[in-house]
Amino acid sequence: MIDRAHLKKLHAKEEERFLARTPKSRERFEAAKKVMPGGVPMSWMTKWPGRYPLFVASAKGAHFVDVDGNEYIDLCLGDTGSMTGHSPAATVAAIKSQLERGMTAMLPTDDSVVVSSELAQRFGLPLWQFTVSATDANRHAIRYARLITGKKKVIVIDRCYHGSVDETFATLDSSGKTVMREGNIGAPVALEVTTRVVEFNDIAGMERALAHGDVAAILMEPAMTNVGIVLPEDGYLDAVGELAKKFGVIWIIDETHTISVGPGGMTAELGLKPDILTIGKAIGGGIPTGTFGMTNEVAAAIAAKTEREVIDTGGIGGTLAGNALSLAAMRATLTEVLTEANFKKMISLGQRWCDGVDAAIKDFGLNWHCNRLGARGEYLFQGKAAKTGREAAAAGDFELEQYIHLRLLNDGFLLTPFHNMALMSPDTTEADVDAHSVAFRAMCSELVKKPD
Ligand SMILES: Cc1ncc(COP(=O)(O)O)c(C=O)c1O
Repeated sequence: MIDRAHLKKLHAKEEERFLARTPKSRERFEAAKKVMPGGVPMSWMTKWPGRYPLFVASAKGAHFVDVDGNEYIDLCLGDTGSMTGHSPAATVAAIKSQLERGMTAMLPTDDSVVVSSELAQRFGLPLWQFTVSATDANRHAIRYARLITGKKKVIVIDRCYHGSVDETFATLDSSGKTVMREGNIGAPVALEVTTRVVEFNDIAGMERALAHGDVAAILMEPAMTNVGIVLPEDGYLDAVGELAKKFGVIWIIDETHTISVGPGGMTAELGLKPDILTIGKAIGGGIPTGTFGMTNEVAAAIAAKTEREVIDTGGIGGTLAGNALSLAAMRATLTEVLTEANFKKMISLGQRWCDGVDAAIKDFGLNWHCNRLGARGEYLFQGKAAKTGREAAAAGDFELEQYIHLRLLNDGFLLTPFHNMALMSPDTTEADVDAHSVAFRAMCSELVKKPD
């Protein structure tokens, strides 16, 4: 439906606009290339639209300013790491206070008890451990599941993302076999050794995968958020929980992104009963952190199988895990920023953003669809909601996405580089959202215009 030659012309125009607007970012990038591969501190940052990434001068609340002085409305928010808004006042105050009192000592602080209690109350799991990232939380959860069950395999959902966790970079081939995902670098073993992949919303497939009797854990998001948003069908998550129980498998729910639906994520919202819950990113207000909660039964099973003398070399840990600074940040973020009242506001803004996108999609007759997940919204280039990761992935259009992201960036909006996701923070305003609706509509109008 979209004329590709027209799209190329539009993209070329935006490339020119980008170069004209961002000479200082370009200068920084030229210097950066001499000291960092690809000119970026982490390789995936080359995926931003435009010939180079923007260099950021400062960020506050829902906005940031690049080194050229251009201002942006940030709808990416560090892909959830800054869902709180950049540098939220309460978190900054707690961090400043902790900075003067020691940042990492490998000993517990009072904040660890407060944060664990808060997490327990939100997610319904009584016992918590802390890591440096959500990736680490998932890695540790998998190891513990293997320890407890004595089984080896992990079930993941096709097209999932849980951080750089080896076991999760598998996919289904056209014959339904588990294989390595494209782009997976340096895998230690073939993925079918560690992993079995199942489609989202496929209960029968999940039962078949479990019936082999070799599965330690199911690791999943309660709604998929990394291939567009894919929502669970009614009863699906409860059925997975029941199957996990039936087969004696540890059910790990990753709420890192799905916390967008409320203070206790979808686990609280839907009354789910995972054995382990993992989360990171937003709960530190921007400070690196991760955590996993567990049932009393899981904790007891772990305790029965671990020895104090070698507990530091068992594959669980990280010197900086549970450090005082991240716990101070989490305490303030959870108790003062990611509050019930702020979620209410963020969710209403999420609806408003999706309404603006949906209206333009309808008015310009585009065969696209916008999905909603509380404070998060995302459009896919297909007319109806996907039921599986495979369906959502099939709607991908990298060329179109790169254009849209660059155009909106030039108009002053940052979307997450991996897909068409927008996230609301407590500092995002209705005016921010409405400005996006206007820009998105103008972009759609130009996109569907008949080329001369
Ligand atoms: C659902 C989910 N879990 C875990 C992670 C890993 O987070 P981090 O990269 O901060 O470790 C991500 C990252 O995008 C994620 O989307």
